Order: sequence, then C-alpha cells, then structure tokens
Amino acid sequence: VRVSFDYTNLLEVEGGIRESELSDLRPRLERATDEHLQDPPGFTRLPHTRDLLTPSKALAEEIRTSGATDFVHVGIGGSSLGPVALHRALNHPYYNALAERGGPRMHFAENPDPNTLHAILDLVELESTWINVVTKSGSTAETMANFLVLRRALVEASGEAGYRERTIFTTDPDSGYLREIAEREKIRTLPIPQDVGGRYSVLTPVGLLPAAVSGLDAEALLSGAASCANEIAERRAEHPAVLGAAMHYLMDTSRGRNIRVMMPYADALERFAAWFVQLWAESLGKEGKGSTPLGAVGTTDQHSQLQLYMEGPQDKVIELIEVENHPNDLEIPRAYEDLEGVGYLGGHTVAELLNVECDATRRSLAEAGRPNCTIRLGTVDEAHLGYLIYALEAQTAIAGGLYGVNPFDQPGVEAGKRITYSRMGRPGY
Ligand code: PA5
Repeated sequence: VRVSFDYTNLLEVEGGIRESELSDLRPRLERATDEHLQDPPGFTRLPHTRDLLTPSKALAEEIRTSGATDFVHVGIGGSSLGPVALHRALNHPYYNALAERGGPRMHFAENPDPNTLHAILDLVELESTWINVVTKSGSTAETMANFLVLRRALVEASGEAGYRERTIFTTDPDSGYLREIAEREKIRTLPIPQDVGGRYSVLTPVGLLPAAVSGLDAEALLSGAASCANEIAERRAEHPAVLGAAMHYLMDTSRGRNIRVMMPYADALERFAAWFVQLWAESLGKEGKGSTPLGAVGTTDQHSQLQLYMEGPQDKVIELIEVENHPNDLEIPRAYEDLEGVGYLGGHTVAELLNVECDATRRSLAEAGRPNCTIRLGTVDEAHLGYLIYALEAQTAIAGGLYGVNPFDQPGVEAGKRITYSRMGRPGY
C-alpha cells in the first residue's frame, strides 16, 4: 500500500507553519498520541479482528446467491456515509446499470426524502429485494421512517415471511428499539460494537456487509487499515497521519485557517470526502472549537471554487488527494494537430492531464501564499482506502486530544432531535 502525506506546502509557503511552532506543539502531540495508544478507542481494534468480517461475508454470500436483484441500505450519518463512500470509490460509477456487476443493485436510503424513497421503490423488484437497516441507536427518526415505508412495501410484495427472510438489522448488539423488533420478528442482525461510534464504524458490518454484497474485497479493506494501525503504533507522533493532526490544528488555531477543504483529484473519491467531512466536523466541532471541513473535487471545482481558494479570504487549507495510478486510464487520441490550442493534448493520457492539473493547483496555491497539503494514494482500491480511512480516523481522534474535546460524542445534534420527536408526537417529548 502506498499512501503518503506531503506537508511541504504547509511549511514552506509564506505564512506557513514554522518549525518552531511544530516543536512547541510536539509535547502535546506526543501526549495526545500516547493517550490514544494507551487507551485505544474502539475503532482501533477493528483492523485486527475478523470477528465482524466473517458473519458479514457469510451473509453477503447468502444475499448474492439468493437471486437478489436489489439491496437497500437504510441509514444516515455514520451509518451511511462510509458505505456510500466505499461503493462510489470502488465500484463502477454506473454499477447499477451494468449487466455484469458484482452483486445486486445497490440503493442507499439516507435522507427521509419522499422523492428519493419513491425513486428507489420505482426501481427495485420487491420480490427479490433485501433491506439492511443500519442504526446503532436503533431509533434514529429518519432511518426508522425509511424502514417503515420499505417494510410495508416488502410485506405487501412478499408477505411477512419474505420480509423476515430478506431483512437485516445492523445495530447495537444488546439494546435499542431495532434490537427489540429483531427479537420480536426474528430478523437477522449484525452487530455494531458498543464502543465504536457511528462515524468511526465503516470497518464494522456497517461498511463491511454492503461492500461484500457488491463484491468488494472487505478483507483487503481491513488489511489496509491494519498496516496503517501498525505503522502508527510503531512511529507514534512521528507518523505523518498523526503529524497531520498537529498541522491542521496549528493552521486553525494559530493561523486562523479554520476551513479544511479536502479536494480529491478523482471522481471516485467525491463521497469519500463527504465521509471525512462528517468525521472531522462531528468529532471536533464543539465547545466553540474545530475547523470546518468541506469537500471539493478536482478538476471540477477548479472551475467553480478555485478562484476563491486563490484570492479569497486567507481562511483555508486545501488538502489535495492525488492518485498515482488511476484505474482505467485512457489515451487522448491525436487529432487537429494543426490547431495549437487542441492538438497538444493528443498522445497524453486522461490521467496524466488530471494529475498535471492537480500539480498545477498545488503549485499555484503555494505561489499565491495559500497553504496546501497532499495525500498521495498509489491507487484507489480496497487496501489503499482501508489505510486512508484508518489514518484519518486516528488523525481526527488525536486532533481531539489537541483541541481538548471528546472526539466521540455529538451533544450538539440532540436539541434538534428533541424538537423533531416532540413535533412528530413521540411520547415523552
Ligand atoms: O457518528 C455518529 O454517531 C452519527 O453520525 C450517527 O451515525 C448518526 O446520527 C446515525 O445514528 P444511528 O446509527 O444511531 O442511526
């Protein structure tokens, strides 16, 4: 696995981080890293066990060989962003439209938006549709509402027995309403370990089951993550992913650069950036602290946002993700060689253009005194993404230590939930 973190343009640009600032912060970074390693959060265990992979793969195999045409993953936030990121990054961009694909068509019911749910119901063949309801708490209103709509559709199409046979609950192993329904209706379940929070759960059955259902190599995801975990255990605060916690913390707290833009140069990683946005935002944005993560895509957003990054307020750090070997590269054919504004492209490849543009963005930002950094991925596959997922989770958790906040709670989202419950008539609210 080749994943590297290049901070040159955070250190060397005008207004960048000084070596002395980094060394002043080092004792705190070391302390935060030591605490993280000595009292490891639940997600750090995931790459080293196959206890959750084995049942996920077995169930995926059953679904794939059952003649399933459709698989609807119902969940929101940490219960959907990771699975969606993996699907978009690693499966064919038009996966559902392919005649030959890894498994059933994949649908994600996230927002309780009737139009989306209706669209899913328009498409699926209900008699051979599986639904996977994913909610750790077992009571998230959006997920439960989507589930109730899909459940009725499944019961109407296949009867109670069909619904029970082709429904899975991925939830807390012991508690919650979904667990209670599972017991009442004898629905099969997969566990989300209690000590793994939603946004850190992509390497549990939350992400492993849908990945395996669509034919992805879930084992490689875990082994990629394990190689990052082992490296961090060995290099501790010297590991570049961990160092990134200090870099982004300093950019925010001592440079006023409180916006972190993750900009992969690969369409496949657009939803990966969305996964990271939740991880960083919900983990660190509390007690008046935290920087604002945003997602962008190169080159698309060069034609949309780059002007702002180059000449707008000095409040951002741009984090490029560069892919060395893009799957399925294509040669740009030679044509119109007499037209100098067109002919020069012929003979290059599409990936070459994408990566040259990534480099051009990096350099032009640096020259304009706009700090940026680059994550380089050897390629986009399961092992590389597993590595990067773990690296960013560890970085976020350790950044929590620097900010002095708990990166595993989200008290700020409770108030809105209470109002929703009360308006929707939930007893006790
Ligand atoms: O990271 C988190 O904890 C949240 O984003 C949750 O994943 C999200 O609120 C959904 O919660 P649940 O899985 O309980 O439905």
